[in-house]
Order: sequence, then C-alpha cells, then structure tokens
Amino acid sequence: MQVEEGGLSIEVPETRHGASEGSGEGVFYNPVQELNRDITVGVLRAVDDECDTYLDAMTASGVRAVRAADAGYDVAACDVDPDAVDLARRNLESNGLDGEVHHRDASAHMHEHGHDVVDLDPFGTPVPYVDAAVRSAGRYLCVTATDTAPLCGAHFESGVRHYGAVPRNTEFHAEMGLRVLLSALVRAAARYDVAARPVLSHVSSHYVRTYLRLESGARAADGQLDRLGYLDHCQRCLWRRHEATLIADPVEECPHCGQSTWTAGPIWLGPAHDAAFVERVREAVPDGAGTAAESRDLLSTVAAELDEPTHYDQHRLYKRWGEPSPAMAEFLDALRAAGHDASRTHYGGTTFKTDAGVAAIRDAVL
Ligand SMILES: C[S@@+](CC[C@H](N)C(=O)[O-])C[C@H]1O[C@@H](n2cnc3c(N)ncnc32)[C@H](O)[C@@H]1O
Ligand SMILES: [Zn+2]
Repeated sequence: MQVEEGGLSIEVPETRHGASEGSGEGVFYNPVQELNRDITVGVLRAVDDECDTYLDAMTASGVRAVRAADAGYDVAACDVDPDAVDLARRNLESNGLDGEVHHRDASAHMHEHGHDVVDLDPFGTPVPYVDAAVRSAGRYLCVTATDTAPLCGAHFESGVRHYGAVPRNTEFHAEMGLRVLLSALVRAAARYDVAARPVLSHVSSHYVRTYLRLESGARAADGQLDRLGYLDHCQRCLWRRHEATLIADPVEECPHCGQSTWTAGPIWLGPAHDAAFVERVREAVPDGAGTAAESRDLLSTVAAELDEPTHYDQHRLYKRWGEPSPAMAEFLDALRAAGHDASRTHYGGTTFKTDAGVAAIRDAVL
C-alpha cells in the first residue's frame, strides 16, 4: 500500500492491520513515528548550512532516507533485510530522488564511512550501534530508543547491562529514561575524544528521541563528562537531590521524611536541549508535514522547559498532600510568585519542572 508522508508517496507493506508496525509481517513502517520523522526533517532543514550528507542507518522502508533526500541531502541508507533494501531503493526512485541503499550491517558501514548526520532508529536499544555512529557522524547524531522500560528502571537489570548506569523507576520515568540514554551517549562519544551535546530531546509515546551536536576534542569531551552524576530520590515524599560527580556519595536517608532513598546514575545532569536550536527546528518543520501543528506545539513546550534533570507530577504531589490540584497555569504562577523558576514539561499535562524542592513547592502553593 502507499502512504503519504511529508508530501511524498511511500510504499509500505500492507498487513491485516493496515501499515506494518513491526509486527513481523514484512518490512517495518510505523505511522505513529511520523511526528519523530517530521521533527527530524525540521532538524535537517535547520542545520543544512553546516551539513550535506545524511545516513539513515536502519532504513526499513527507506522513509527517512526519502524525506532527507527530499530536504536536499546527499543520502545513504543501510539495512540487513534484503526486502527492506529493495523497498527503500524503490521508494527513492519512485519519488525521483537519489540515494545509496546498502545491504549491510549499519555498524560495519559506519566504521568505514563518514556522514555529517547519522540517524540511528533500531528496534529497541541503540547501544550496539553507538560506538560506530560516533566514529561516523561528523556533526550530528540522532538517536531513537524504544526500550523505555530498561531506560527508566522498570526492567532494572537490562537497563544496567545496556547502559552502564543504574536507572531507577521514579515517577519522573520519562526524564530518567532520557538521562540514562544521554549518559551512555555522552560517555560513548568521550571514548573517542568527542563532546556530544544534546540540542533537542523528546520522549513521546513509547520512545526516546535525541539529537546531539558533536565536537572533536579531548577537553570538550571532558567538559561533557563533568555533567554526569548521581541522583538521590525518596519514593515516599518525592524529595530528590543531584550532584555532578563520577564518584557516588549517596544519601542513605531522606532528610525530609527519613525514608531510605534510591540512587540513580551516572545520568546526564546537563541540559537536554538548546532552546535557540529548538526554536530554529520549530520554524523549519515544513508546513505540509502531517504532524506540523503537533510537532510545533511539542517543540514550543520543549524550548520553554527548564534544564532541571527531574520533573514532578502535580497530581501525585497533591494526592500526597490530600488536596485538590489547581489548573497548571495557576499552579506555575504561584511557584513563580514565590520566587522559583517553573515550567511545564512535554511529558504530559500534569508534569512540571522547578528549581524548588518539594517542601518549598508546598510552601509556595498551599
Ligand atoms: C525500527 S526499523 C527502522 C524504521 C525506519 N527508520 C522508519 O523510520 O520507519 C529497524 C530496521 O533496522 C534493521 N536492522 C536491524 N539490524 C540492523 C543492522 N545491524 N544494520 C542495519 N539495519 C539493521 C531492521 O531490518 C529494520 O528494518
Ligand atoms: Zn522523603
């Protein structure tokens, strides 16, 4: 069957349920990831003054390669599935676009070839491809991870194994997942004396997506490692604390309520986005993109989000306090009026970030 995306016509496998969603019935295509791809096109358009070449390392139907070629990029793509390779070639050709599609393991290709932008979109964890991707990517690395349960600590051992960090299943699980992933990506880049700086990140439906700007240099890489650290969290009263260090010094007991605490790390504690970059991407998302309005809304929220490495759930706090929660806008105004920084987050309508601790939040709003 043919689907329309970004003004292009893409052939995808037909299944009993419509387009294939990785159900094992042929080459993968997930219509739900259109937002992810629309934002990728926004990123590619926003950086086209510094980038010309793009690698779609796991191409499946070729949809990312097609969309990048349409945005003016010189594209290459890989897949280990010969049916995917045939389909990706057909999709480039039927849209009148050029691009090389290799029937090859992405890591083997990336060890041998450089590209300005490298995009990893695997099934599950991107970890097996990250070292090769850092070697291959000249300027930007784009990564999707769909293994959110290991990343956020719900599948603890698998998270520890894959990411070399201790994830904890807190109520800010989306933020935890993102920061465990960013920690692994920053450390992987540092192994090659490369600084990886996250310029845009979002956690949407069942995946984490992040874009990192790369800069070669041992000092720059050291500077990024300085932003890794540990986070202590009280599951009972939601108190938390974080410290940028590679030597953990965990708090045993919550200073607020006395409960024993959980420690996660090393996680990324620096900014997960660059607001000016996110604004540029927002402007560069094409009007004709299927999710243009939704993508721009998401990007506006991300741009305004504080850099705090954790978020709170407003309903969860009020439930603990036994009080009804007010509207989010009113609640954030009360925090700001008390002198704290506060923002919404893109993780959901009831989530927010603030530099205030849990006791100060209560004082400000109750
Ligand atoms: C999640 S799909 C990619 C989806 C696609 N990028 C999109 O936006 O629709 C993952 C693809 O990676 C391919 N793949 C798995 N292992 C690979 C490897 N080592 N190298 C290259 N491709 C691989 C699979 O055959 C599958 O087509
Ligand atoms: Zn506590």
